Amino acid sequence: MPLDIIVGAQWGDEGKGHITDMLAAEADVVARYNGGDNAGHTVTVGRNVFKLHLIPSGIIHERALCLIGNGVVVNPAVLLREIDALAEQGVDAGPGRLKISRNAHLITPAHIALDKARETQRGDEAIGTTLRGIGPAYTDKTSRTGLRAELFADLDGLASAIQQHVESHNQVLVDVYGAEPLAAAAVAAEYAAYARRLQPYLADGTLLLDEALKNGRVVLAEGAQGSFLDLDHGTYPFVTSSSPTAGGALVGLGVGPKWVRRVIGVAKAFTSRVGGGPFPAEVEGETALRLRGTGDKPWDEYGTTTGRPRRVGWLDLVMLRHAARVNGLTELVLTKLDILSGLAHLPICVAYEVDGRRLEHLPTDATTLAQCRPVYESRDGWAADIMSARAFDDLPANARRYVQTIAEAVAIPITYVSVGPGRSQVIEVK
Ligand code: IMP
Repeated sequence: MPLDIIVGAQWGDEGKGHITDMLAAEADVVARYNGGDNAGHTVTVGRNVFKLHLIPSGIIHERALCLIGNGVVVNPAVLLREIDALAEQGVDAGPGRLKISRNAHLITPAHIALDKARETQRGDEAIGTTLRGIGPAYTDKTSRTGLRAELFADLDGLASAIQQHVESHNQVLVDVYGAEPLAAAAVAAEYAAYARRLQPYLADGTLLLDEALKNGRVVLAEGAQGSFLDLDHGTYPFVTSSSPTAGGALVGLGVGPKWVRRVIGVAKAFTSRVGGGPFPAEVEGETALRLRGTGDKPWDEYGTTTGRPRRVGWLDLVMLRHAARVNGLTELVLTKLDILSGLAHLPICVAYEVDGRRLEHLPTDATTLAQCRPVYESRDGWAADIMSARAFDDLPANARRYVQTIAEAVAIPITYVSVGPGRSQVIEVK
């Protein structure tokens, strides 16, 4: 025992990397369970800013062993770039510290080309994907034609599997989308080179975790994206193709529920979303600029992966209650509270209104959700800059009240708040 699961309680970008980094100080294994390099986790340590897409945020701590779980889709080119970038920043991400589950699926240039072709064809109806090949890789996985990382241990098998994979996707690319075909032999050669480097990283992920848990080690399961991008429980079809919710951690790592100790939801003190789809509490104009920031700071609301400005809005309690339910959250961590400093009034979305009806729960279909209007209750803000607060009692009374209002409305404790990107800026809520 035990397994602690970190999930995004909104549409991703909640600051999970920051919180994982804090909890990883006490963890023996940090395991990423879903998504691919569509994710962008930023960890700030002193003057060093680490931008991670695939490698668990625990890598920054020397102690933790890191695992890329079976539920992740891995672009090996991105992974190798990340390993090399960490080495340049003095962080060892070699095979002694990082493992890749043999059952994780691979992303190829054919997946990326298909992602782009499908998004282009959707035109105004585009999902606004990150164009990293995520959807097509998971489609291959569920249609039982995917390529798994285990192929890195079998160079001949890899060469013929890649050849076949690219040729079959070329048919779709050319015939359905009128796109250019890819050179299968060149992709096979590229993947053979990746295999030679990544072969030593392969592991049986479930065995590794089982041994750790049976020996009393602390395992931290790190999710990517957020609950509202979940294929089943998010704002379908404007979602990603994996399961960022807590259930996804069990499937994406091959661990049973008996090990779970904490399910930690991470939510921003306001809301953001990248890509298309409904967003009831969205704001625009000056207020949006104020929440988003101008992009000159690494923690401003611009995509870590794509650089796109994020859509922003007020905190939405309907969403947080939904996230608490579908994940079985045992606690919530509220990040970026400092961004709200200086705002006189803080509207909080407490319910939705549609056709004169008040909704307390998130509607399951995107059409109804798109018609929902937010019902706000306003809280008084605080003027002081809170970035130097180091204890909950250092916060202005209105900031503490804001936090307490949320905990009461969602009916789970808020255990930490963050007031800036640094390690010392995560405050325990007593
Ligand atoms: P995909 O995961 O690239 O297929 O994109 C599907 C949707 O999920 C799009 O709206 C993306 O903007 C969104 N998305 C994917 N990954 C992230 C993330 O890490 N943070 C925020 N949004 C994401």
